[in-house]
Amino acid sequence: MELKREAISFIDFEPEAADFLSEVLDGLTRPQKSLPCKFFYDSRGAALFDEICRLPEYYPTRAEHSIIVENGAEIAALAGPSAAVIEFGSGSGLKTRALLEALETPSAYIAIDIARDALLASTRALARERPDLEVIAVCADYGAGLDRLPEIKGAAVRRLGLFLGSTIGNFEPDEAIGFLRTARALLGPGGALLIGADLWKQREVLQAAYDDSRGVTAAFNMNLLRRINRELGGNFNLGAFRHEARCVEDTRRIEMHLVSAVRQQAVIAGHRFFFGIGETIHTENSHKYTVEGFHAMARMAGFAPRQTWLDRAERFSLHYLDAA
Ligand SMILES: C[S@@+](CC[C@H](N)C(=O)[O-])C[C@H]1O[C@@H](n2cnc3c(N)ncnc32)[C@H](O)[C@@H]1O
Repeated sequence: MELKREAISFIDFEPEAADFLSEVLDGLTRPQKSLPCKFFYDSRGAALFDEICRLPEYYPTRAEHSIIVENGAEIAALAGPSAAVIEFGSGSGLKTRALLEALETPSAYIAIDIARDALLASTRALARERPDLEVIAVCADYGAGLDRLPEIKGAAVRRLGLFLGSTIGNFEPDEAIGFLRTARALLGPGGALLIGADLWKQREVLQAAYDDSRGVTAAFNMNLLRRINRELGGNFNLGAFRHEARCVEDTRRIEMHLVSAVRQQAVIAGHRFFFGIGETIHTENSHKYTVEGFHAMARMAGFAPRQTWLDRAERFSLHYLDAA
């Protein structure tokens, strides 16, 4: 379905409520209960994520933004003129703006995000700021395959993919390689991917980034249960769960969990789930990388790492990968 709205084109493949329900039921029936992190981002979740990005403890956004600002000319030289920029999980687009300003006459900006309201708000705002730019908003789950995306631009246009915020880290390593392979096919020969990857570091720094002193990350995590209650008619008792961020050294990742404080049950669409004291719902993984490890993963997906930049404190990495 394609609708022309204001200055943007909007393509709507938003997952149905039935998809949300079946993924929730599937996750809660597993031995380790889990919920997919892609459902964090209803309007409230997207707003809470923006708040997280401004927290003193949450360094990734500031670090990645500084890399883009300080190396914009070099990124632009690699991308060349007239690239069509395709962003996966675009969010509010602060860093995107910095990149679009640095690039030489980008021909189009295509934003793909599952969070419909936030996507429409951010692309409409961008289109107002950049009337020179063709802006296309695609509401879709990029994990469900990018093959449904229509042929957005002719084959002659060079495509620059953007995957910022270390969102790649939400995938398990084999899923990340699968996603990168699909993205590479979409970007085509001559295309490239600019991708942010957070670096493994001291446990205390990572822990604080995912369990801030103001409790914003806790509210973000808990919002998933609130969304299930509202959209799927669930009856989770929000006061009976608490947020937990676990730094897991073996897998080099931060896991977010919702921990049941009491013995309890919750019913969603007639399905009943039991929770023991201390039992958790695993809601998100954020894998952390080394530069070498990330390059190896990119190569396994068929990309050729061309350039890597770090922020001054060497907390975060940004990679320009050729879709070789
Ligand atoms: C961690 S935020 C990053 C946002 C932004 N790129 C940044 O760097 O600040 C992840 C974004 O990806 C979107 N997202 C998460 N999973 C997705 C999926 N499976 N398909 C499409 N968008 C997804 C979310 O709605 C959110 O806007």
